[in-house]
Amino acid sequence: MNLVFLGPPGAGKGTVAAIAKEALGVPHISTGDLFRENIKNETPLGKEVKEIMAKGELVPDDVTVKMVKERLRNPDCKNGYILDGFPRTIYQADELEKFSKVDYAVNFELDSETIVKRLSGRRICKSTGKIYHIVSNPPKVEGIDDETGEPLIQRDDDKEEAIKHRLEVYDKQTAPLIDYYKKRGLLFNIDASASPEASLKKIEKLAK
Ligand code: AP5
Repeated sequence: MNLVFLGPPGAGKGTVAAIAKEALGVPHISTGDLFRENIKNETPLGKEVKEIMAKGELVPDDVTVKMVKERLRNPDCKNGYILDGFPRTIYQADELEKFSKVDYAVNFELDSETIVKRLSGRRICKSTGKIYHIVSNPPKVEGIDDETGEPLIQRDDDKEEAIKHRLEVYDKQTAPLIDYYKKRGLLFNIDASASPEASLKKIEKLAK
């Protein structure tokens, strides 16, 4: 099953995708994670996108589409995929239609107050990308990743100014995709204030 996860920053797309990939047996492809991996490895792409991401801007469409197109050619996508954070513009959605057929666009709905709380409390493991929250999903030892023992970090774009800007960018450039997929009969709304497990149950029903 080919799924697109839509929704504002911090709505929980990555958290649900991390459990849904096991349940559905498809890879979780997060464009944000792919970019962050490139930044960590100091690749030319990483150098190109570092500042853009820290400010909460979108990476140019052509760069992003090319990266996703290549990633979907990987054999692990033969039974489907979860695309998390892509498409994020109408242009990207039009391009995606040309090289893959989306079965559902799962739209994570959450109010902006909760979004800000989730983003400002998020911590991640730089090596594995594992997502925590200082209140709702803390690590066993404060500030330390459960698996690797490495210190957890706060994403550059989870600082207050960048969060505000990301929400504006979402409203302007990404929210129109809700209508885009609704018109195509592919939209599936999820109440993202529920637990990740409750969201997963709803998504699993789509696969049946
Ligand atoms: P990206 O990494 O995609 O960030 P995002 O869309 O802003 O989404 P987030 O990762 O912030 O949130 P999420 O919904 O995954 O929430 P999470 O599960 O972590 O993109 C980053 C940047 O990369 C962009 O700004 C852009 O520059 C670039 N980029 C990426 N894709 C692009 C594209 N297609 N085109 C152009 N540029 C692109 O959860 C958040 C927190 O809440 C966590 O702490 C978590 O523990 C907690 N939480 C989650 N679920 C729950 C729950 N149910 N209850 C309580 N707490 C919860």
